[in-house]
Amino acid sequence: LKADLLAAAAAAPDLAALEEVRVDALGKKGRITGLMKDMGSLTPDERRERGQALNAVKEEISQALDARRQVLKAEALAQKLEAERIDVSLPARPEVEGRVHPISQTVEEMIAIFADMGFSVAEGPDIETDFNNFTALNIPPEHPARQMHDTFYLPNGPDGGTRVLRTHTSPVQIRTMLAGEPPIRIIAPGRTYRSDYDQTHTPMFHQIEGLVIGENIHMGHLKGTLLEFCRAFFQVDDLPLRFRPSFFPFTEPSAEVDIGCSRKGGELKLGNYGDWLEILGCGMVHPKVLENCGIDSTRWQGFAFGMGIERVAMLKYGIPDLRTFFEADLRWLKHYGFVP
Ligand code: PHE
Repeated sequence: LKADLLAAAAAAPDLAALEEVRVDALGKKGRITGLMKDMGSLTPDERRERGQALNAVKEEISQALDARRQVLKAEALAQKLEAERIDVSLPARPEVEGRVHPISQTVEEMIAIFADMGFSVAEGPDIETDFNNFTALNIPPEHPARQMHDTFYLPNGPDGGTRVLRTHTSPVQIRTMLAGEPPIRIIAPGRTYRSDYDQTHTPMFHQIEGLVIGENIHMGHLKGTLLEFCRAFFQVDDLPLRFRPSFFPFTEPSAEVDIGCSRKGGELKLGNYGDWLEILGCGMVHPKVLENCGIDSTRWQGFAFGMGIERVAMLKYGIPDLRTFFEADLRWLKHYGFVP
């Protein structure tokens, strides 16, 4: 029996098997334990002799079990160390770093500049009511300006009203004025849509709207704000601005703003060079628009402006082709995008 048990202990392939051997020999119902229990019928002398012998066997088996346990534990540890080994000499995996899209970057820069001037950011949905996109902005149903906008119309909304993909960010003016009270000082960047596609037009593009309503607000505030913004954004200290009379149904008077540039030798430079480039539309908010939004136009005045984001991003970062903004070409993004 002893030889059997010693052989079993030595052969146990792992700690669980070794424990089985121990229970089989020395457990409560183990074979050695059983032999010890059987000593009751012996004479005292026989019992002493038998007891000593069995204790010696028990001791020997215990030692054999302990020895085997040490070996198995060491093996298990060695295996674990091997399995979890890290080869610190392997080259690192190449990091695939993303880029910030020039549109996102440009919007962030614009928000930062206007935030310094006390503007907060307002938002509106891409799907607008005909009322917010046109009617409240003093563009009645038969107004020719609606055709200029090449509107994408959607099936009527749940209230039966006409819905459109907003053709400009100006409906955010209406939402802001309807939802709050003057004074107001907001910008609203976002996606806009017109049914148009060629080298300089994509059906989806971005605008940023500005709206300021207060007491005694006048064109001087509009000029000062836009001059400050353009010089900060294009980082040209003496960049000149030219306000050209224009027309928008929702502003009176209205103007288009040009920035100074030079186009000599096909290369575009921004600054005081005598040539001009149009970048935005603006004007004093039409009293009818204020009244459409429940604002007393005898007490409050304001100005608004709207600017195409792709257009100024192309100017600032020398991106030659509008359509590439939306092609999701990773090589383009790596070239023109920004490290986060
Ligand atoms: N919404 C006009 C456009 O899309 C721009 C504009 C905004 C003009 C605000 C005046 C005031 O062209």
